[in-house]
Amino acid sequence: MECHVGVIKGDGIGPEIVAEAKKVLDKIGGKYGHTFRYEEILMGGCSIDATGVPLTDEAIAAAKASDAVLMGSIGGNTTTSPWYKLAPELRPEAGLLKLRKSLNLFANLRPAYLYEELKEACPLREDIIGDGFDMMIMRELTGGLYFGARETKEVDGAMTAVDTLTYNEHEIRRIARRGFDIAMKRKKKVTSVDKANVLDSSRLWRKIVEEVAKDYPQVVLEHMLVDNCAMQLVKNPAQFDVILTENMFGDILSDEASMVTGSIGMLSSASLNDTKFGLYEPSGGSAPDIAGQGIANPIATILSAAMMLRYTFDLDKEADAVEQAVRQVLKDGYRTIDIMPQEEEKRLTVKQVGTGEMGDLICARI
Ligand code: IPM
Ligand code: MG
Repeated sequence: MECHVGVIKGDGIGPEIVAEAKKVLDKIGGKYGHTFRYEEILMGGCSIDATGVPLTDEAIAAAKASDAVLMGSIGGNTTTSPWYKLAPELRPEAGLLKLRKSLNLFANLRPAYLYEELKEACPLREDIIGDGFDMMIMRELTGGLYFGARETKEVDGAMTAVDTLTYNEHEIRRIARRGFDIAMKRKKKVTSVDKANVLDSSRLWRKIVEEVAKDYPQVVLEHMLVDNCAMQLVKNPAQFDVILTENMFGDILSDEASMVTGSIGMLSSASLNDTKFGLYEPSGGSAPDIAGQGIANPIATILSAAMMLRYTFDLDKEADAVEQAVRQVLKDGYRTIDIMPQEEEKRLTVKQVGTGEMGDLICARI
């Protein structure tokens, strides 16, 4: 198969982690007879530096012309980087939001899974971890607060800022369907997360999700308020299968879920629309504090590439091979710094490696 992959390296650790994911894809290509043709696309701070804007029309066109886009991360230190002195619509994050909207990537899948080998990196108590957990966060990605009208102006002599949270029933229905479809392939449970005790948008969310649920009688649906969900994630993460939620709640809860799995460096993601196209990126940020040091964990990006093989190219066997190699490398005791065990004694039982070495070790297991 010939696969045309747009590549957004982005900022911070982005270039380092993307390089490892490409290494892994090329290894898969060689072994299973596929060719990955990469096309670099500029987005984020590096695009601002080169073109003055975080995402050009040419970059959007290049992404649209690809079968899939593999992305690292964008953005910098929000207090020190000059990018954050620019108008909000010219900052790195605006590029990512624009790309998601331009490609209609409304469904964001973020799997959070606790590897047996990483129990020691998990900050939760052993009795809470139990037999581990395996959840899929289905985050709505093109609506809600991140895309509503916003402004800051003076009202009656006081600076006043407004952000608007809007959802219509169609937006809710299509993401809910995706959530239930995924649940059908998993443990058949959907936890729909909202703030229906306060927000109108959440009350509509709940109503539409209940309507969609009628088409999936085998799936158990429960509703949970977002504040309670934040608590339940650290109290009893094993109760979750699919968490279905709106944009901002999903943004926050997915970071929390990733930390519960040990490190945000392990959490992959896929952003999908109604076609086979997808944008695949680690859920974590650009980590400017460790950029260029060769210590970032490339696993989330490598697992995102596996999601690309699965969802865009229907290469399930190849995706399995990548995921298996990741599991094996952890079994064999290799860790990047972020997933090192916390206890001194246990640290002696594993070997700390850098970004490039981790990529090589995974390739060697494919
Ligand atoms: C994420 C990130 C983005 C988001 C930022 C960079 C705009 O936090 O993908 O979770 O909030 O969606
Ligand atoms: Mg986020």
